[in-house]
Amino acid sequence: EDASTLVKRPPVVCVMGHVDHGKTSLLDAIRETNVTSHEAGGITQHIGAYVVEVNGEKITFLDTPGHEAFTSMRMRGAQSTDIAILVVAADDGVMPQTIEAISHAKAAGIQIIVAINKIDKPSANIERVKQELTEYELVAEDWGGDTIFVPVSAHTKEGIEQLLEMIILTSELVELKANPDRNARGIVIEAELDKGRGPVATVLVQKGTLHVGDSIAIGSAYGKVRAMMDDKGRRVKDAAPSTPVEILGLNEVPDAGEIFIATDTEKEARAISETYISQGREKLLEDTKAKLSLDGLF
Ligand code: GTP
Ligand code: NA
Ligand code: MG
Repeated sequence: EDASTLVKRPPVVCVMGHVDHGKTSLLDAIRETNVTSHEAGGITQHIGAYVVEVNGEKITFLDTPGHEAFTSMRMRGAQSTDIAILVVAADDGVMPQTIEAISHAKAAGIQIIVAINKIDKPSANIERVKQELTEYELVAEDWGGDTIFVPVSAHTKEGIEQLLEMIILTSELVELKANPDRNARGIVIEAELDKGRGPVATVLVQKGTLHVGDSIAIGSAYGKVRAMMDDKGRRVKDAAPSTPVEILGLNEVPDAGEIFIATDTEKEARAISETYISQGREKLLEDTKAKLSLDGLF
């Protein structure tokens, strides 16, 4: 891709860690809203996607569930992000989904920032968490390593500002860029059938800009984007790189984790879906890669 067409895009940050270590609470503290209390039993069922603005810099956050049944969501989270925030409760330490999250982030080759949460608790033991994580090659700077550790409390909000600073700092080092002037492509974060609205997909735009009216193909699903909502539920007409949006207008519910591509015509989108149905995903990716020279995503 021509370097001159690339412009800075916000970092996509995935919040991962063991169940109940405080991922959603931490995001709530960052957004200063309160999502955990609306969740069924305080368990995150889906990846939530939110955009937060810090001193004029946007950061896109993806929340993932820590429950052991959600391995694929954590994998997807890691694959679609630039930076992982590994949340470890200071009173509980490294647990099975902490270790799994580390391996997903490492497999995806993304930078890990450790947030040691719940430091307000009397039983918090920050040094123990640092010690435990050395076994996974995450060594804090004050332990002679180069991993950023930020002690935080989602409840008292201590450390939240430092955590945000570290995210901005880390993302500046990676120099994240994308071309906004091309057909959009990205990944499905979650999707469902809504009784009133039909198939609804939350997608993360990774390249290009998605517009209302664009034709789009996602695996065997296709359609024309009829409406788009941002993370605050506001109707928007365009979604730039690193923006999560909910889209309406698909003929069926696509699979989470599937790649979406915007096409020039609806006919083309339909042809992609037909190839997917008749010849399978592998063949489709091979074809589209060749035909549309879809670099990068596959
Ligand atoms: P899953 O999505 O289910 O994996 O959980 P989670 O990691 O999102 O944790 P969640 O935010 O739901 O918090 C779990 C529990 O820990 C809740 O009861 C929170 O109130 C509590 N909690 C979260 N952060 C803190 C904190 O900083 N201090 C204390 N004392 N409690 C916290
Ligand atoms: Na929880
Ligand atoms: Mg949660």
